[in-house]
Amino acid sequence: MKEPVAAAALIVAATAAREVAWAPYSGYRVGAAVMDDMGRIFAGCNVENVSYGLSLCAERSAMAAAVAAGARRLVSAAVVTDAEPPGSPCGACRQWMAEFGGPGMRVVSVSTGGSRREWTLAELLPDPFRISPGEGE
Ligand code: THU
Repeated sequence: MKEPVAAAALIVAATAAREVAWAPYSGYRVGAAVMDDMGRIFAGCNVENVSYGLSLCAERSAMAAAVAAGARRLVSAAVVTDAEPPGSPCGACRQWMAEFGGPGMRVVSVSTGGSRREWTLAELLPDPFRISPGEGE
């Protein structure tokens, strides 16, 4: 991430969201935060369900909060877990990121132990699904 201060703020928000994650089935708590093109930060956590397949990832939870607040362009995201190495976003969340972030969207994943990984969205999802390839970028 090019702006370390912005990344730090995202990580703080994602860490706080992870504290309230609802993950009684997997025990894998995830916090996420996204920043829009106005510098606003929105956080989310994973929300599991007794019908396991209905579980929602932290990244999509954060993006839904952003969209509900009117955000449309996302520039960066942070994910916090206790995984080592830090976890990368699942495929569904990458496709959601492609909807609201460009290929240059920055994604950082940190562990509670202090490890860090970082990508662009283009690295995570080089060829996202589009209805008309080449449009909607
Ligand atoms: N999970 C996320 O929140 N984000 C990811 O990128 C991968 C997985 C959640 C879903 C489920 O609640 C738990 O982690 C285990 O898969």
